[in-house]
Amino acid sequence: MQILQDKKILLGISGGIAAYKTPELVRRLKDHGANVRVVMTDGAKAFITPLTLQAVSGNHVSDSLLDTQAELAMGHIELAKWADLIIIAPATADIIARITAGMANDLLSTLCLATDAPIAIAPAMNQQMWHAKATQTNINTLQSWGHHIWGPGAGEQACGDIGLGRMLEVADLVTLTSDFFADKYLQNQHWVITAGPTREAIDPVRYISNHSSGKMGYAIAHAALRAGAKVTLISGPVDIQAPIGCELIKVTSAEQMHQQALSYAAQATTFVACAAVADYRVADIASEKIKKDSDAIQIALVKNPDIVADVAQLPEKPFIVGFAAETQNVEHYARGKLMRKNLDLIAANDVAKAGQGFNSNDNALTVFSAIDKIEIPLANKNIIAKQLVSLINQHYLLKQSKK
Ligand code: PMT
Repeated sequence: MQILQDKKILLGISGGIAAYKTPELVRRLKDHGANVRVVMTDGAKAFITPLTLQAVSGNHVSDSLLDTQAELAMGHIELAKWADLIIIAPATADIIARITAGMANDLLSTLCLATDAPIAIAPAMNQQMWHAKATQTNINTLQSWGHHIWGPGAGEQACGDIGLGRMLEVADLVTLTSDFFADKYLQNQHWVITAGPTREAIDPVRYISNHSSGKMGYAIAHAALRAGAKVTLISGPVDIQAPIGCELIKVTSAEQMHQQALSYAAQATTFVACAAVADYRVADIASEKIKKDSDAIQIALVKNPDIVADVAQLPEKPFIVGFAAETQNVEHYARGKLMRKNLDLIAANDVAKAGQGFNSNDNALTVFSAIDKIEIPLANKNIIAKQLVSLINQHYLLKQSKK
């Protein structure tokens, strides 16, 4: 079954330059099984034609409150009741203001008043307009009513300005839509996840690190978000985008990650230590670039704090999941870390195998509890993450039920 199978999505398009992306949005939503109907404001029609949207959606496009034919059957009420979700993309400052004021002076604003379907708003406007007090007040009001605000993104704008105000990319909007309909079995849980490598400075231009890309930890963050958890992602330096909606805490060194992890984990229900933390750091970081004066140099290293083991010492400790990256005796070493670090679960990956583990798109895990051993076979990290998140939750609930 497709992710959006039989979901009825009403796409409201208002008059911004990003309207040119909406035929692609309609097509991608339909690819995932959604039935899409489109409503356009007069402004939207200055950027893109109803005929285009009709062709890609396969449905009649509505654009007038005063359409005598449609209103024979109370068209605006019918549309308002039909939708499982209303997405307004792009949402200009004008339509945002009109919805907040409860106006009903065109079909789209009227629908927003007449519906009890959830409404998602993808803002798109000049960065100054986005930061304006009026817009921010309106957005806060809509959020307090339970409307979903998707974006905006940052970057170069049509007017040449750079900043916040770009409509999110089509792929992001489709991801948010499918996340919206996903089973929210982690609602009311707060997950803190560490991801990526740490960097331990040697001098101002050199550091010790490892090959972690952050892909595994970021996939877990996305899977937990999708399942309705509040997610704090504490990440070492990586080149990938954090999932929209998570709280991203960027760190560089193990000591910084240690400090942030202890502070956030104290309020969390679940802590997942996926980061590849450097076990050692340089004892004395050189303040100037080290010169190539001698044939050999020695750098003294000192042990870094063990983040996950220290989280396990918190008085109100969350449910704790560690990772074990091993190249041999995987089960033996993983079980040792599970016990020694006082964890609830440990997910072991054999990083000696090609095509999985560090910096690859795929992984395979063996998850150990004190009594269980569960295999998650080789697959894309996004698929592995979904299975792992569900498994962690089952063990979390079991532990809660025994309290
Ligand atoms: O980021 P990717 O490229 O997607 O790769 C994913 C991964 C291979 C990095 C990931 O799946 C993984 O295995 N992460 C843990 C890597 C690791 O450092 O394992 P470890 O066996 O050294 O550490 C055991 C556990 O202790 C881990 O949960 C680690 O986060 C934690 N640890 C380790 C050292 C330290 N000082 N503090 C810690 O919290």
